[in-house]
Amino acid sequence: MDALYREYIIDHYKNPRNFGELDERDVEFQDRNPLCGDELGVHIKLDGDRVSELRFHGQGCAISQATASIISEELIGKTVAEIAALDRHFVVDEIGLELSPTRLKCGLLGLKVAQGALVGTEDWPDGTEEAVDVSPEEAAKLRSEI
Ligand code: FES
Repeated sequence: MDALYREYIIDHYKNPRNFGELDERDVEFQDRNPLCGDELGVHIKLDGDRVSELRFHGQGCAISQATASIISEELIGKTVAEIAALDRHFVVDEIGLELSPTRLKCGLLGLKVAQGALVGTEDWPDGTEEAVDVSPEEAAKLRSEI
């Protein structure tokens, strides 16, 4: 990984933007990465059909946490329809990295829960995917690889 991008990802991982919970929220959603069991949740406050506040919470690897932080800054201010239309290209553009299929699941978790809160995940490409059993050792290895 390019050193500059590594620094960018690590910065968002260590100093995540818009992480926490909202006492007052209109919608919320939580999901997990089926490959490792890591969970990410989101609280969203709406102003009409526009996201006025958003907070992610949960745990996961550097890519999942950093990506949630990075996209949170873009999601605030967007309309529900605009967020519903986003796909993996948005995430890849925002983080500036192509991700392996395994790592893509980590990177897409933030967008998945945001769309889940606003419009549901029925149309999500892996929405019907069953969680797989991963040993704690395998999950730890997955988390540690950035
Ligand atoms: Fe669990 Fe990335 S979210 S390893």
